[in-house]
Amino acid sequence: MADFENKVAFITGAAHGQGRAVAIALAKAGADVAAFDVAKKIEYPAYDFGSSAELESLKDEIEALGRRCVIAVGDVRDDAAVTAAVEKTIEAFGKIDILFNNAGICAYATVDKMTDDEWNAMIDINLKGPFNVTRRVSPYMMKAKSGVIINNSSVMGLRGGNRLSHYTASKWGLTGLTKAWAIELAPYNIRVVSIHPTGVNTPMNDGLAAMEGMTPIEIAERSAGNLLPVPWVEPEDVANMVLYIASDKARYVTGSQFVLDAGLLSV
Ligand SMILES: NC(=O)c1ccc[n+]([C@@H]2O[C@H](COP(=O)([O-])OP(=O)(O)OC[C@H]3O[C@@H](n4cnc5c(N)ncnc54)[C@H](O)[C@@H]3O)[C@@H](O)[C@H]2O)c1
Repeated sequence: MADFENKVAFITGAAHGQGRAVAIALAKAGADVAAFDVAKKIEYPAYDFGSSAELESLKDEIEALGRRCVIAVGDVRDDAAVTAAVEKTIEAFGKIDILFNNAGICAYATVDKMTDDEWNAMIDINLKGPFNVTRRVSPYMMKAKSGVIINNSSVMGLRGGNRLSHYTASKWGLTGLTKAWAIELAPYNIRVVSIHPTGVNTPMNDGLAAMEGMTPIEIAERSAGNLLPVPWVEPEDVANMVLYIASDKARYVTGSQFVLDAGLLSV
């Protein structure tokens, strides 16, 4: 499959988890990739983030597929780092066709115990982060009169989550940004779509489990409530959905919410 030959994808949170799976799937389908990640442990939440070694191995994997990969290390909260990464991508590839706003964090807290730092980190990374990146990428797409922006929200961007009010607020906010940007960018032939996975089998899920003193399966089952008999979906399932949305097969799809929930939202 080479639907994405000569296409360039900019992916945040690319070192591991869903971002990595999407990067590899797009490269297999012909795309060149700019892989952006903070690539270090940050102060909150207390689980492992992506690493430089993972970014390097992603680059090797993509190059072994015959595609090009640019690595950029930075935090989506940091406008200077985001701007530099976008400029580096444009220098290397000349354009950005697909933006996957994927970097995000998750952690638990009840509203009475939530600190300012926890609230701010959740909103700054999960909601302002996609704004920071889209603000810097969209001018290139507008100039090209072409592009697709895919925002990784969550089922929690369409329902509530227990002890997840900050996460839920950030993900509903991202659903809202999707709708507003779809209106604003449609005249430039830029499509904007959000995806809403149930629990995904990634290092995030492992990290949350460790923080709660549970196994990854236990935490997935506690939070999921999937109808299908699976504790989670795999990052590759997310990649399949993203590839469809990013492709010309979805050329008239914009402003929409794509649910990958194993049935969770049906009840
Ligand atoms: N795992 C799930 O169950 C699940 C379900 C639905 C939606 N999501 C969402 O999907 C996205 C990806 O999640 P995942 O499961 O792959 O998570 P993950 O923690 O396994 O991977 C996230 C990647 O993003 C990077 N990252 C985190 N904060 C960053 C920042 N401030 N700047 C730059 N990079 C940063 C990390 O280093 C890591 O490589 C997130 O937005 C998450 O909220 C996750």
